[in-house]
Amino acid sequence: MSLVSMRQLLDHAAENGYGLAAFNVNNMEQIQAIMQAAVETESPVIVQASRGARKYANENFLRHLILAAAELYPQIPLAMHQDHGNSPATCISAIENGFTSVMMDGSLDEAGKNISTLEYNVKVTQEVVKYAHARGVTVEGELGALGGIEDGHGAGLSAEEAAEHLTDPDQAVEFVEATGVDALAVAIGTSHGAYKFTSKPTGDVLVMSRIEEINKRLPNTHLVMHGSSSVPRELVKIIDDYGGNIGETYGVPVEEIQRGIAHGVRKVNIDTDNRLAMTGAIRKAFHENPKEFDPRKYLGPAREAMKKVCLARMTAFGQAGNAGKIKAKSLDQMKKFYAS
Ligand code: G3H
Ligand code: 13P
Ligand code: ZN
Repeated sequence: MSLVSMRQLLDHAAENGYGLAAFNVNNMEQIQAIMQAAVETESPVIVQASRGARKYANENFLRHLILAAAELYPQIPLAMHQDHGNSPATCISAIENGFTSVMMDGSLDEAGKNISTLEYNVKVTQEVVKYAHARGVTVEGELGALGGIEDGHGAGLSAEEAAEHLTDPDQAVEFVEATGVDALAVAIGTSHGAYKFTSKPTGDVLVMSRIEEINKRLPNTHLVMHGSSSVPRELVKIIDDYGGNIGETYGVPVEEIQRGIAHGVRKVNIDTDNRLAMTGAIRKAFHENPKEFDPRKYLGPAREAMKKVCLARMTAFGQAGNAGKIKAKSLDQMKKFYAS
């Protein structure tokens, strides 16, 4: 099966009341981990690459790795998504490189450091929607600002500042109508990376009620949760037990994500949990076999550890079992859908 549009997967998820994890990838082992988990659970999948990933892996390597996944597992509907595109140029180059979905993150300026104006966000997102939909490609927009800066995405907002920049439901309606985006990333108090909350999050800091409000106003828009890693204690513990120093920290509990899925969340972005799983497995392998120097002996366990996380999320979000129920549409068919 060739790559499918993300819109098709999100529509199927909405019609059947489930959510899809969108996992970040940078290399072969991560793509293999996701695909192996997808095959075992019969899940449709969204694989996404940040600008940093495209730079790290190189466009050609990344494209061919994803195409290899599609070739090897034709039974798995697979969408390739640009995560946090910072400009129309980034999104256009992703589409030229075979991505079937792009995120135009106009909530921040092009440098990705300062909160932009609504006018700027609408303008750049409209531009990308026009280009992408004419090619059958899906567009995710973002409104509101996430907290944190540690991974280079974000305005460096403290938890208090981020709370002031949650997505405004009225503005969300205005934004979706003005841009025609397929999916909307909303700010509800999460941030990227491992350090999201200093204790188990309550509704004051992880404002799931905001999703419910937005979903009531925009019942036909697919909502996206960024910064959705759960930062499981057992994964952090493996890293810390084998010489790391992540410390006590809290992520987004899986049951809160499930609550989001019950209220219109269709795409759930996860990177950190997989990074933690791989890092812990590598640290453990190094510790247990100090004389070993074959990369397969630590990248193999890392891939296995990531696969476990993917399996768990695919099952918890309800995407498991749906791969065979989706009849793939070509981008040409999607192009006609948008034109009609
Ligand atoms: O959006 C954040 C993802 O975790 C990707 O991060 O820019 O370090 O690849 P990255
Ligand atoms: P995490 O850092 O919580 O995994 O979030 C990833 C993300 O939102 C990618 O866009
Ligand atoms: Zn994100």
